[in-house]
Amino acid sequence: MIFNTLVSVLAIAVAASSTPIQPQQLDVITPHITSPVENDIWVPGENRTVTWNTTEIPPAFKNNTGKLVLGYYTTTKDDQGHWQTSENLNNTSPLAQNFVLGDGCANITVPHVPPRSTYIVVLFGDSGNASPQFKIAEK
Ligand SMILES: *[C@@H]1O[C@H](CO)[C@@H](O)[C@H](O)[C@H]1NC(C)=O
Ligand SMILES: *[C@@H]1O[C@H](CO)[C@@H](O)[C@H](O)[C@H]1NC(C)=O
Ligand SMILES: *[C@@H]1O[C@H](CO)[C@@H](O)[C@H](O)[C@H]1NC(C)=O
Ligand SMILES: *[C@@H]1O[C@H](CO)[C@@H](O)[C@H](O)[C@H]1NC(C)=O
Ligand SMILES: *[C@@H]1O[C@H](CO)[C@@H](O)[C@H](O)[C@H]1NC(C)=O
Repeated sequence: MIFNTLVSVLAIAVAASSTPIQPQQLDVITPHITSPVENDIWVPGENRTVTWNTTEIPPAFKNNTGKLVLGYYTTTKDDQGHWQTSENLNNTSPLAQNFVLGDGCANITVPHVPPRSTYIVVLFGDSGNASPQFKIAEK
């Protein structure tokens, strides 16, 4: 979702820019998160390993550091009556950061957050990529 947003923004930037953009700037990193998978259940205080597919990371970016952020989807109506989905990313307390993207995994401790079944983790390198939704249960 974020990747699509970024691509849209870049497409507009390319269209609006008079100077040609180098292809490198479009070379965004979007490794797919392979764990958690949909409907996984995490329990606060547990250690978990978040994994992603490193074959999608261009070699020049494998040493870049990443950040993992917890969020959850909520859907609310805006004042025009349109449904809006928010990711509610907790950027102030990343689950993990300064790990190497090319490692393909990072260990985290599940924080003590309210139970919900719409949690996601988003991996930020040069771009963000959300996992499927999973659940954090009551301890
Ligand atoms: C989780 O990992 C942390 C940091 O590596 C460690 O200190 C802690 O003992 C682990 N907790 C469990 C429940 O394994
Ligand atoms: C990782 O990505 C590559 C290239 O897109 C794909 O061929 C492969 O099946 C993926 N592996 C996993 C475990 O998703
Ligand atoms: C990544 O880091 C490793 C170890 O520090 C180094 O051997 C390798 O050449 C680096 N790769 C790139 C593409 O910078
Ligand atoms: C972010 O996470 C920290 C640690 O789990 C928590 O104390 C804080 O309330 C969270 N913030 C939001 C906006 O959810
Ligand atoms: C993550 O935890 C697993 C299992 O406890 C351990 O084998 C692995 O070395 C840890 N990885 C990192 C990057 O700390």
